[in-house]
Amino acid sequence: MQAINASISFDYRLWREDIAGSLAHAAMLAHQGIISKDDEASIRQGLTEIGSAIASQSFTFDPALEDIHTNIEAWLVGRIGEAGRRLHTGRSRNDQVATDFKLWVRGAIDAIDLSLRDLMRALADRAAEHAATIMPGFTHLQTAQPVTFGHHLLAYVEMLARDRSRLTDARRRLNESPLGAAALAGTTFPIDRSMTAQALGFDRPTANSLDSVSDRDFALEFLSDLSIMAMHLSRFAEEIIIWVSAPYRFIRLSDAFTTGSSIMPQKRNPDAAELARAKTGRIFGALISLLTVMKGLPLAYAKDMQEDKEAVFNAADAAELSIAAMTGMVRDMQPDEARMHQAAGADYATATDLADYLVRDLGLPFRTAHHVTGRIVAAAEARGLDLADLPLDVMQEAERRITGEIFKVLTVEASVAARRAYGGTAPENVAREAAKWQNALA
Ligand code: ARG
Repeated sequence: MQAINASISFDYRLWREDIAGSLAHAAMLAHQGIISKDDEASIRQGLTEIGSAIASQSFTFDPALEDIHTNIEAWLVGRIGEAGRRLHTGRSRNDQVATDFKLWVRGAIDAIDLSLRDLMRALADRAAEHAATIMPGFTHLQTAQPVTFGHHLLAYVEMLARDRSRLTDARRRLNESPLGAAALAGTTFPIDRSMTAQALGFDRPTANSLDSVSDRDFALEFLSDLSIMAMHLSRFAEEIIIWVSAPYRFIRLSDAFTTGSSIMPQKRNPDAAELARAKTGRIFGALISLLTVMKGLPLAYAKDMQEDKEAVFNAADAAELSIAAMTGMVRDMQPDEARMHQAAGADYATATDLADYLVRDLGLPFRTAHHVTGRIVAAAEARGLDLADLPLDVMQEAERRITGEIFKVLTVEASVAARRAYGGTAPENVAREAAKWQNALA
């Protein structure tokens, strides 16, 4: 029974929140005249001592005492006696654990928000540095059109900004205090739930006691938001893995973020990126796990809900590690600009620019221009030439009105520079956007 029932091996991580909740509860009980001021003073003294003992790792948790709440309370009673026994008046472990866990998730949201800001700042810095560095842009992982490296990095800044905004939103909805809902029905004592809510930084108390002790939406929202964020990090990690691979070599990572092979001396493996890509599995897993735990539970509390914590702790740890690894790699990576530039010009990446020229300068309808461009690309392919090296008279076989002006649009530089419409990849846009983010994140 103890092996399946005890949660102290993992919920010890709630100790700070548990002590904070008890301090707020005791102060409110005294204020309302439910316990004496003297009892409150010894409770406060005792809880402060436990806090120091746990922080200095001189506190031994006892699995026979099941969880963090009973461990702390038993120690308190052993230390201060009778007054400690009065602390649990007007509350239950059900509202206590809901309160502790909300406080923990709120703290984790704040910590992850800061880490994401660091990652965004690293990306914005590198984007500013590489506003004009040209690389191939892909669709279907086929060379499509030239883009700037800075533009590519800023795409992730946009994703991470949405991730942060989702977390902020979850935090706002989470911020109601369940403390005082007691076991499920509320309490007969004249408690002041607004007072404890305020002391713990909540906006207000929760309105329904049954919902208060049985709600884990806040944990599910946190895990959903982390899942979307992890999906973003995983896509980026995948790109880094592709970019450092031998056929690409767009970027180089230093030894700080790669490992050697035990048998192949030439190898530098992007392990940090691979692990960030893989940690996604834990985070998605945590979400599915908790959704499954919750989906059939009748109101109100059931012990099933104790399974919420490991999933959330594990996902939060994995998220923090992945964000830190990605931030490190963004600051570390060295793009090979010559190689990126060369790859950007390969595979007729400026064909769209040619078609746009036919529309803009010769007044062709876009569909016709698309067709003419296809013939020119085929002619270049047949001769084994890049578009920019194709003689003018060959192009004129496809459309006689083409002039030498065409060669101005066929370089990768001209291609990116021309994409000046808002949101496009032009270096001037990227420099402006990168500066905007650097300011916003400073
Ligand atoms: N360790 C428990 C949990 O995490 C605390 C709440 C226990 N409540 C109860 N009625 N047994 O859910």
